[in-house]
Amino acid sequence: MDAAAAVSVPSDEQLAALEQLCVEFAVIAGRFIRDERPDRLGVAQTKSTDTDVVTVMDRRSEELLHRLIIEARPDDGILGEEGADVTGTSGLTWVIDPIDGTVNYLYEIPAYAVSVAVVVGDPSREGAWRPVAGAISDPSLRLVHHARHGAGAWTRPEEEGDATPPRRLTVSSEHRLGRSLLATGFGYAADVRARQAEVLTRVLPLVRDIRRIGSAALDLVRVADGSVDAYAESGINAWDLAAGWIVVEEAGGVVVGRDGGAPGKALTVAAGPALATQVAPLFTTEPA
Ligand code: IPD
Repeated sequence: MDAAAAVSVPSDEQLAALEQLCVEFAVIAGRFIRDERPDRLGVAQTKSTDTDVVTVMDRRSEELLHRLIIEARPDDGILGEEGADVTGTSGLTWVIDPIDGTVNYLYEIPAYAVSVAVVVGDPSREGAWRPVAGAISDPSLRLVHHARHGAGAWTRPEEEGDATPPRRLTVSSEHRLGRSLLATGFGYAADVRARQAEVLTRVLPLVRDIRRIGSAALDLVRVADGSVDAYAESGINAWDLAAGWIVVEEAGGVVVGRDGGAPGKALTVAAGPALATQVAPLFTTEPA
């Protein structure tokens, strides 16, 4: 976290403009993947394993986000899940997941998201970056969740003209592990999954229950709005995490990694502060 802390955070005026762009871009890409989904969507490619899929819409959504970002912010960097990265000169990088919850999207399960964040530091190095603004669109519910540093976390309808007022997000106050609903997720590699299942055999008897929603970004939103008490997963990437991290923090929660360090691949835990310190050790025996 030191390297990230050394980079200065933009002024609140700049942050407000960046947050607004995050919302705009996440909503545009969210509508695109919902409304333009081809009738017979198949797997276009696999990545780390045969179960780690990419659809044509992941690629198109990332291309769309690239175009929007480059047009509005030509000096910023871009790091995206599908890999067409850009090195910037401004010190700010857009970290984007064009579809988080791709397997849900493929199966038409309505729990997928577009995650768009602006970060300071180097998001390709764990512990060397942190988000300063972000938005997660939930196209199935036609909602967008967003935050910027120091200004709270909010949910609003994706439709500009909708008069429903924005709702401020607050993490759950549950601090008893045994009463906690814990969201988690699994990687795509069989050996990693076997270890994750083994960790769950120890965790499941200790908590109220477990949820596997299938989108890390939406898991983090659920922590922020208190509809789950905590989230823990190992193996997630910067693009799964970046926007949700600032949303949870601005909702009063903490997002930590192994041994209380920065969140990332080794471990990401999000919860209210008292619960996070109980959940993290349960997952720290799991190899990265
Ligand atoms: C995945 C989802 C899932 C999580 C995986 C991620 P993707 O992202 O967020 O919930 O458990 O670790 O890789 O592949 O759908 O963008």
